[in-house]
Amino acid sequence: MPAAAGGSRANKNYCVAGGHAEYLRHMKEIVPSPPPLVRNQFESIRDLFAKHVVPSYGRFELALAKGAGNHVWDVNGRRFLDFGGGIAVCVLGHAHPEITAALVEQSQKLVHVSNLYYHEPQGRLAQQLVKHLAPGKVFFCNSGAEANEGLYKLARRFGHEEGRFEILTAQNSFHGRTLAGIAATGQEKIKKGFEPAVAGFRHVPFNDLPAVRAALSPATVAILIEGIQGEGGITPATVEYLLGLRALCDEKNLLLLMDSVQCGHFRTGRFQSFQRILEGVPGGEKFLPDGVSMAKSLGGGFPMGAFWVREPFADLLSAGSHGTTFGGTPLGCAVALKILEVIERERLADNARVVGQWLRSALDGLVQRYPGVLRSARGLGLMLGLELVEKEKIRALSASDKNVSTLFVNRLHEAGLLTIPSGPQIVRLLPALNLTQVEAEEGVGVIEKTVRALV
Ligand SMILES: Cc1ncc(COP(=O)(O)O)c(C=O)c1O
Repeated sequence: MPAAAGGSRANKNYCVAGGHAEYLRHMKEIVPSPPPLVRNQFESIRDLFAKHVVPSYGRFELALAKGAGNHVWDVNGRRFLDFGGGIAVCVLGHAHPEITAALVEQSQKLVHVSNLYYHEPQGRLAQQLVKHLAPGKVFFCNSGAEANEGLYKLARRFGHEEGRFEILTAQNSFHGRTLAGIAATGQEKIKKGFEPAVAGFRHVPFNDLPAVRAALSPATVAILIEGIQGEGGITPATVEYLLGLRALCDEKNLLLLMDSVQCGHFRTGRFQSFQRILEGVPGGEKFLPDGVSMAKSLGGGFPMGAFWVREPFADLLSAGSHGTTFGGTPLGCAVALKILEVIERERLADNARVVGQWLRSALDGLVQRYPGVLRSARGLGLMLGLELVEKEKIRALSASDKNVSTLFVNRLHEAGLLTIPSGPQIVRLLPALNLTQVEAEEGVGVIEKTVRALV
């Protein structure tokens, strides 16, 4: 295993005096055991789903009952190290005591008020997000897909008088499951069976600037990309692509929109992935998109979404033009503010960078040692992907009709590690930003053992 890359700022003993074991004990105390009804009852829970829940998800054979820190427990009491983080949501892990306290405290004051009224937490959270980005304004909603919907409406408003409405997005992108979300998403499998598609979206190859220029039409009003494609397989945008898109948008009077739902919120070691990608690049610090969508880690598990709009466009969505009942409630905003406070105080962006760098080089090492199973490692900070070779090349898996990524994730489950498939051949690691070096090493150990069994 490679040596830890500059481990000085990694969180060995996160948060609670007395070290990691003490921290876990502390977490277990505040998370009660599941009631007897659900204990040891995986089958009956699965039956409830089979009978009563719309079967739109392919689920793993796991029913989770509680979590603490970077571990979760299933209903049978089995413990798993969580490298999936609820798909980049559980930014401080599970049952973080400060999130619990913020929830309790705010819920005793004011849970919800309509957006017909002002309240302090929403104003303060918007102020924080603007501080981390640049002058502009924020709209709050409930999910990533809804945050992107806001960006589509912003773009349409922007181009309305000239009759421009078309948004170019990238092939292999993912922007959510609403009708406009699947129209924006550059993956055919997501759209199938839901035609006719919402008009006004076309897809071009990712990281291909000439292709974007060639695809522009008189109706084009905006370009929307992810800084790092998440569902598409952990593919970061290149420096040339980001800077080139900004120049192109300036030249053609287009909005440059970034979907930071998965790659944002300090996951890469900076608030936004484009800030990390452009680090040290001449002119990179000045780069700004015109709109940024956020969700997932923003609420750490409390459902929240938001989009930020750069100053010149911040008032385009005027009173009455957009809204949602639950956007930016006092409760949600109090949680999101607490998360930002903890990330800043505990220097968790640095932790994501250091532990992420260590993980990345450990994964690179595995790829070198086991080329018969692993093809590449990719990603930045704690947004990492491990690409497997084709299923046919791994004898133990070749007979299955499932994707190799799903099969590998299943094997990791058996070994006690949660990860997330991303497309047919890539396994994603999206752990909490407070992942400790010890936990990172434990996870890599599990991955190596699982890979070795497939050689
Ligand atoms: C980049 C990106 N955009 C949008 C979404 C949709 O977010 P939500 O599921 O909260 O609607 C996701 C979800 O995975 C995502 O990864």
